[in-house]
Amino acid sequence: MRFGVLTGGGDCPGLNAVIRAIVRKGINVHGHELVGFRGGWQGVLDNDRMPLDLQSTRGILPRGGTILRTSRTNVFKREGGVEQVRRTFADGLDGLIAIGGEDTLGAANRLHVEYGLPIVGVPKTIDNDLGATDVTFGFDTALEVATSAIDRLHTTAESHDRILVCEVMGRHAGWIALHAGVAGGADVILIPEQPFDVEEVCARLRRRHDRGYLFSIVVVAEGATPKEGTMETVEAGTDEFGHARLGGIGQRLEREIETRTGYETRTTVLGHIQRGGTPTAFDRVLATRFGLAAIDAAHEQRWGMMPALRGNAIDIVPLEDAVRELKTVPPEYYAQFDALLG
Ligand code: F6P
Repeated sequence: MRFGVLTGGGDCPGLNAVIRAIVRKGINVHGHELVGFRGGWQGVLDNDRMPLDLQSTRGILPRGGTILRTSRTNVFKREGGVEQVRRTFADGLDGLIAIGGEDTLGAANRLHVEYGLPIVGVPKTIDNDLGATDVTFGFDTALEVATSAIDRLHTTAESHDRILVCEVMGRHAGWIALHAGVAGGADVILIPEQPFDVEEVCARLRRRHDRGYLFSIVVVAEGATPKEGTMETVEAGTDEFGHARLGGIGQRLEREIETRTGYETRTTVLGHIQRGGTPTAFDRVLATRFGLAAIDAAHEQRWGMMPALRGNAIDIVPLEDAVRELKTVPPEYYAQFDALLG
């Protein structure tokens, strides 16, 4: 059989490890042919294929990014998009493995449920906000990058008696901010799930200074928002899936903190550094396990399903479960760390 593979949405360390596992097991064990679609769903719309074989996937395990390239193309936003996808499938494709986050898997699920197309998903996102799986690959790498950045910010903050704000990724979910903040010993952690009052943030910083500390670290997720009326907000356009382009909360927070407290404050935006580069060993192993399970699912024609990590086991679960609702940080989970902050 011939299966296609695509990577969609924001790239993520471990994508190449998934592709490699799919290709190796697909060819060596199941005897299938694999083809890659370039640039996410755009490659399927354009029927833009590249061969995926042992040769073309050699040496990619430690490489960040994706050899297939990626995009945020939304099939359902394109005139005649579903028809184009159908034509690509009719061109000798027995199934497709779509590796992506909420948007890519959401489209995969609709194409399977509403149009009967044979698709298996693989969950990826550095944000770790997909339902149905305990963890997504890419998260561990992003967390390591963010934690080591916070460690570095600590020493310079301390030397200069400054407040340093570190803005990390996380559009709807604060997993990176919370875990990196806890691992890095931050004094304030702001996440999208809990709108913040900037005056409370400042009060916390003042209290810390009253206790004798001359510096503080504030970790803020890019999607964190102030409580209504407590601070100005800025909109910066949306992508094809309707997601706001984020970034900027760190700098606005910097200005507010400095003005309200008088403490010198600076911001570091980690941005795409969290997504680039080589995956951690944990992410390489998880991505490899997902790839092996995904090619098995395609081989067994378990369409509309995807591998998920449950405890230490890989389960096969309906795509529907992953895209039904985002896995956000529960309030009580966030609250338990409060005793450590400030
Ligand atoms: O979805 C993963 C993610 O890294 C989000 O945390 C972030 O908001 C978004 O991608 C930004 O991606 P891009 O800059 O590629 O649009």
